[in-house]
Amino acid sequence: MTFSYYGFKIPKDLANLTGAGGETFKLISDGHINNLKNILDIQPQHDIFELGSGVGRDAIPLSEFITTGSYLGVDIIKQSIDWCINNVTSKRNNIKFAHLDVKDQIHNPRGKLPFQLQNFPVGSESIDRVFAFSVFTHLFESDILHALNEIKRILRIGGLAYLTCFKLSPEIISASKKNKLNKYDLNFEYKIYDGCYICDPQYPTGAIGYTEEKLVEIVNKSGLKFKIKILNGGWSGYYANCKDGQDVLVLEKN
Ligand SMILES: C[S@@+](CC[C@H](N)C(=O)[O-])C[C@H]1O[C@@H](n2cnc3c(N)ncnc32)[C@H](O)[C@@H]1O
Repeated sequence: MTFSYYGFKIPKDLANLTGAGGETFKLISDGHINNLKNILDIQPQHDIFELGSGVGRDAIPLSEFITTGSYLGVDIIKQSIDWCINNVTSKRNNIKFAHLDVKDQIHNPRGKLPFQLQNFPVGSESIDRVFAFSVFTHLFESDILHALNEIKRILRIGGLAYLTCFKLSPEIISASKKNKLNKYDLNFEYKIYDGCYICDPQYPTGAIGYTEEKLVEIVNKSGLKFKIKILNGGWSGYYANCKDGQDVLVLEKN
């Protein structure tokens, strides 16, 4: 079963692995691309790296936009990466994908490597823009720090990153429980330690959230700098007029 997307036939089962199916696939991407252009200031000549590229939700529309630049998307789901290589790279050879065989209970249970032993497959200081939509929402602190260290390594000076996450406070968690905007129960009822909360102890990486203080602490450890204050996300219903469904770290290497 497939659905049509910019002339591509996306397999529904692979779209479902991104957490939202075919019905909202383009709507979500339209929001992503808008923010990548307006907040991350991506340009057609940029070299771009995406962590957690899924089945090409954003790579496909970007493949029209990135002309002299390049794009590399990585993900830990091999079928999605294979689909992207066979369907997207085959048409545009500056749009590439690579599988990271990282172990994760939900997305790649038979994966071989812990994330922290997996370097990103790109040279140091070779990338202008990095983005990751709904990936830090599945990572524990040590893995986020590893990702940030790798992002710092691969970015050129002045390069920017757009990384979505769940930012928590007691008020935000109450709003999420009350509003129930998400098909997943984002209750963040289980405290792992000060500043880090999960929703389901059986699937800890299903959704992981952090207090603002903890997010700032992790970013500071990496040496990346906040380009702007953390952008509030609409996922809980606590904030109105949000630019993204999730909270966003917009970071700079300087
Ligand atoms: C919620 S989905 C979002 C996918 C894509 N960004 C999108 O918006 O369609 C999260 C993605 O992150 C990937 N992922 C999870 N942990 C990862 C890791 N450590 N490294 C790279 N990708 C990861 C998953 O395999 C999954 O494709």
